[in-house]
Amino acid sequence: MIAPSSSSSAGPVLSPQASAEPAPSALPPLPPDPVGKPRFDRSDFRAEKAAREVAQAAPAPDKRQAALRELDVYAKMAVEHSERQYATHGTLHDVAKRALDARDLWERPWVPWDFDLGRADLHPVWQRWTQRQRLAWNHLQWGLDYTIVGRGEQQIIVLNGHAVSSYESVLPAVVDLEKRESFEEIDHLDAFREGLEALRLRYLPHRRKVLWATSPSGFQSDTLNRLSRDVIGQVAKRLLGSNFPTLFFLTRGMKTHNFKPFENAIASYEEAPMGIRQISHLHRLDESRHMATSLYLAKLSNVVLETVPVESRALFAAAVHASWPVQRQVENRVGYWKAVLHEAPIYSDMSRAEKADLLQHIRSQTEANLHALHPRQAQLTRQANKRIVEACGLSPEYKAIFVDLLRKDPLHASLVDAVDLDATPET
Ligand SMILES: [Fe+2]
Ligand SMILES: [Fe+2]
Repeated sequence: MIAPSSSSSAGPVLSPQASAEPAPSALPPLPPDPVGKPRFDRSDFRAEKAAREVAQAAPAPDKRQAALRELDVYAKMAVEHSERQYATHGTLHDVAKRALDARDLWERPWVPWDFDLGRADLHPVWQRWTQRQRLAWNHLQWGLDYTIVGRGEQQIIVLNGHAVSSYESVLPAVVDLEKRESFEEIDHLDAFREGLEALRLRYLPHRRKVLWATSPSGFQSDTLNRLSRDVIGQVAKRLLGSNFPTLFFLTRGMKTHNFKPFENAIASYEEAPMGIRQISHLHRLDESRHMATSLYLAKLSNVVLETVPVESRALFAAAVHASWPVQRQVENRVGYWKAVLHEAPIYSDMSRAEKADLLQHIRSQTEANLHALHPRQAQLTRQANKRIVEACGLSPEYKAIFVDLLRKDPLHASLVDAVDLDATPET
């Protein structure tokens, strides 16, 4: 996955604590979106819309032919949009390098204050923390969110290719699209690493490597994940057949939906340094396309591909569990803040008991907040999840297993709370 999943909502939103200068109005406007739409928009769904129009304009002889044609148009247009965006803005990596040179970088918050699921602001220590300490917490929150996003993208870079390998002889445009999306994810990771390295130098200078949260899916160990990605991709393809791309893109889509509202919020957060906003703005344009791709491939892979899955509910359930590990969303956040509190010199004035108490507070707040969607996720995430689950090409039985498994886990249940499997599926 990809993202901070859910959170909740209880309690007041934090008020900005950052330095007041320079005034937001003094900031230059963001450059226009490369495809000429308003700054914060859904421009990248245009390819999806165009593909649908083509499919509707000339009905194909059968459902599979129609799906092939629609996917072909969509895949080629999505690659074209990506190339145009990169031609206009350059790589996200270069944007990030420039962003981190800004003079006001450390004087402003990077993310809205309500992103902190652990609600450090509700702990007594917050009251005596200095402005610098509060700002550091906010900057490190960016690090937490983007390491969770980045961990998911590390998996995706490899698994994208495996998930569409069956398309090679059927519709090469889909393979080309996934190569392009993996190229983008590599660029995203390079950009996030710039920010994480800046955080290390400023707040964790004694660490040899940047601080990453553990992966939100797969194994906890990054080494194991690195070593196993290819094998998992090959085995999943053999065992799950066309249910593999369907489940993979269903999951990839839902995890992308999770962070999208947060990224939208950073992009339009006027308190933040302009470059930090620009990273999120450009990343979300790519991720809008990735969301549309996920929806398409989750919906149509079982129609288009002729690989017959091995029918095994247990196998399918195991694959769902691996994608949505129980309790990981709490552990990776608590582990991250534990490392911060014990290693960052800026918090060295706290006693050991105070740090332990704050960590306990973070654990219980995070767990409680993950039981519901964050208010920022109440629309986009909820509706996009509903759409992709209801439209995906899993059989009704497997779709019900998928939804039931997520609903059984209190930390994942809210992700599918709007799903209605009795609703008429999209065709
Ligand atoms: Fe990305
Ligand atoms: Fe992505």
